[in-house]
Amino acid sequence: MSDLDIIVLAAGKGTRMKSSIPKVLHQIAGKPMLSHVIKAAESLDPKAIVLVVGHEADAVKKSIANDRLIFVTQSPQLGTGHAVLQTKPFLKAKKTLVLYGDVPCISNVTLARLTASSAQISILTQVVTNPTGYGRILRDNAGNILSILEEKDASEEERKTREINTGILCLDTELLKNFLDQMSNENAQKEYYLTDVIRFASHKNIAIDSCEPIYEHEVIGVNSKQDLAVMEREYQKSAADKLMKDGVTIADPARIDIRGTLTCDSEVHIDVGCIFEGDVHLGKSVKVGAYSIIKDSAIGDGSEILPFCHIEGAQIGERNTLGPYCRIRPKTKSHSGVKIGNFVEVKATEIGEDSKANHLAYVGDAKIGRNVNVGAGTITCNYDGANKYQTILEDDVFVGSDTQLVAPVKVGKGVTIAAGSTITKDVTEGGLAISRTKQSHLPSWKRPIKI
Ligand code: UD1
Ligand code: CA
Repeated sequence: MSDLDIIVLAAGKGTRMKSSIPKVLHQIAGKPMLSHVIKAAESLDPKAIVLVVGHEADAVKKSIANDRLIFVTQSPQLGTGHAVLQTKPFLKAKKTLVLYGDVPCISNVTLARLTASSAQISILTQVVTNPTGYGRILRDNAGNILSILEEKDASEEERKTREINTGILCLDTELLKNFLDQMSNENAQKEYYLTDVIRFASHKNIAIDSCEPIYEHEVIGVNSKQDLAVMEREYQKSAADKLMKDGVTIADPARIDIRGTLTCDSEVHIDVGCIFEGDVHLGKSVKVGAYSIIKDSAIGDGSEILPFCHIEGAQIGERNTLGPYCRIRPKTKSHSGVKIGNFVEVKATEIGEDSKANHLAYVGDAKIGRNVNVGAGTITCNYDGANKYQTILEDDVFVGSDTQLVAPVKVGKGVTIAAGSTITKDVTEGGLAISRTKQSHLPSWKRPIKI
């Protein structure tokens, strides 16, 4: 555990989001912004993480509740310095790091660099082309940091400074506590500015260290829906970059969405428009076709997902071909060489080696052996309106098209089911199972006509 406490500021309203949802709960990569910040904070293994909440405090607390977090309510919200002041009784470690709930992409590597500084104060700054809206870093001729000036308090000349305050800083806790007591709100916004600590420190000749983040987007704050969309893309771009560095081929890194963790073995190819949610693993040489959505699943080596598939909670075996347009639902497990084709829905089913369901079928709560062919239009009738039942198809079964298998039902090894059958009783091994009314022809029958 490091001798560090972390404060996350999340009390602000976020008016420019134009939403009833508190700003810090808007999502990046499928998770609230605040969760990303907390994850980065946790990676530093601090003694405490203190969250300052205010606007919609209950909603914020509820959505990110976690035993390790200490919540402090700031009401009214009188500025970043005032927000930090509320956390004073909880700060016990040697150093304190301040993070922002609306700066979601801060990386643990950048934070580790900032907190490793031996200086009593270390701030994260960034030289940008357009500093509008940010506090500016003022240095003397020797490059020592003198103060941070908020834009509203800066002169025309001072505003030209392109080194900005990211807001993130790490400092000696005793020093912080001391400075918090000296803060005043005599400034353009009549707020208590946390940034005043820098001026206090430089007056006392305390050395102030600074470092830059690894990537510029790490320190961008989200204030509007436009910012949120920009950050989402930045996040996705860096997730795609990491995968490509590891050898994954991504058809277009601007058209991929990873909302969780995606791990890939070698020679993986991902086409455009795919979404990965939760924990997904793609085995060696897996190909994922355009516009597929894969959630909490593992895809075996050499398998190909054709375009427009939806796969959730599945274990797909090696050398499978899925889709286009198939839906694989939770608790599906396929062995090697399985084919699941267009408009086939599979749920809670184990499918044996080399078995196929190539067209238009519903296969739910089933256990299918090896080398089984499930014909077009087959339906496992697994639900009687109250309970679910299992269908068992043993090895080498051939199910003719448009068959209904009324569960619970078991079809023995090597049985052929004639097309259009409704199978309600178990069938033992081999032979043909057929259940149809006999075909007849009424030559004098007339089509109804409109009256
Ligand atoms: C702040 C910095 C500015 C910096 C910028 C970086 C100050 C005075 N200014 O300005 O130098 O360039 O961030 O993004 O610190 N918050 C509270 N309680 C409050 C006020 C704010 O919890 O009373 C929280 C907000 O929810 C937000 C964060 O603190 O997460 C920053 O507040 P905001 O008002 O956006 O500060 P900026 O004006 O952007
Ligand atoms: Ca801000």
